Amino acid sequence: LITRAFRSQFVIPDFQDFIKDIEEMYWAAKSNTDGKNASYIPQLTRASPESWGVSVCTIDGQRFSIGDVTVPFTLQSCSKPLTYAMALETLGPDVVHNYVGTEPSGRNFNELILDYNMKPHNPMINAGAILVCSLLKTLDKPEMTLAEKFDYVMSFFSRLAGNEVLGFNNAVFLSEREAADRNYALGFYMREHKCYPEKTNLRECMDFYFQCCSMEANCDIMSIMAATLANGGICPITDEKVLRPDSVRNVLSLMHSCGMYDYSGQFAFKVGLPAKSGVSGAMLIVVPNVMGICTWSPPLDPLGNSCRGLQFCDDLIKRFNFHKY
Ligand code: DON
Repeated sequence: LITRAFRSQFVIPDFQDFIKDIEEMYWAAKSNTDGKNASYIPQLTRASPESWGVSVCTIDGQRFSIGDVTVPFTLQSCSKPLTYAMALETLGPDVVHNYVGTEPSGRNFNELILDYNMKPHNPMINAGAILVCSLLKTLDKPEMTLAEKFDYVMSFFSRLAGNEVLGFNNAVFLSEREAADRNYALGFYMREHKCYPEKTNLRECMDFYFQCCSMEANCDIMSIMAATLANGGICPITDEKVLRPDSVRNVLSLMHSCGMYDYSGQFAFKVGLPAKSGVSGAMLIVVPNVMGICTWSPPLDPLGNSCRGLQFCDDLIKRFNFHKY
């Protein structure tokens, strides 16, 4: 880092100017009071709607954070690209995509539908993510207990985040499990259609899915994960090769086409960057070969995306030429 600094070889050489733009975009979005917190579990409903944080980590490790960037939130659906990445890495894309498709569903994230092959459409919606959890549990190191598997996934996520330690919110986990009629319906529907690998224990698989949604991180930590994805799978903080480039390519492709719920097409059109949102109000945004960004603010629009996060992305693309096309 220091050698590069002396040579002015950073991917964003004028980082101080860039920070000024980020600050302006941050304050502009801060005054946006649109949206409502998720209401299906009390822990998310109670989160402060004022909370707003933005963290940036470039592929060469320059970092900037503003706002509520150290307040923990649950990963929720931001865990989906991460479990998918882990499955690609350990099982390979052929095995994974034997069970789950690569097509946007064109429907809400928790809808009770499968594709024309009776597979979940993609790993970024609930059905697909539940299935990916069953693959991780049943096919990768099947001898591990659920407890061991939990530690194994936590430490993988942590490696994506430069060895930062993630947390776990047990109250959210318990609430998720209580409020999960639709997810159970999806789970059983997929069992009826023989979607899972043999020997899948559905109860364990559902718990594993809720646990992944209930892991906790903050903007600072998640921006490093996004930067690892921006950097072809090498964590810019530790220089560890966590993911193969082909896994990263697959993850980013599906974040691009399916990462923003039923707004994914419009987001791809307007913003043109791979991103993933979660009901806690978090958003992972990847600018390939440049940087990872995490934004967090609980109020959501009717489709489930963070209102301030979306405004930030729109603004980012107006100011910088990061749209893929
Ligand atoms: O499965 C659920 O309903 C939540 N725990 C996760 C939802 C979420 O963030 C939306 N996902 N695409």
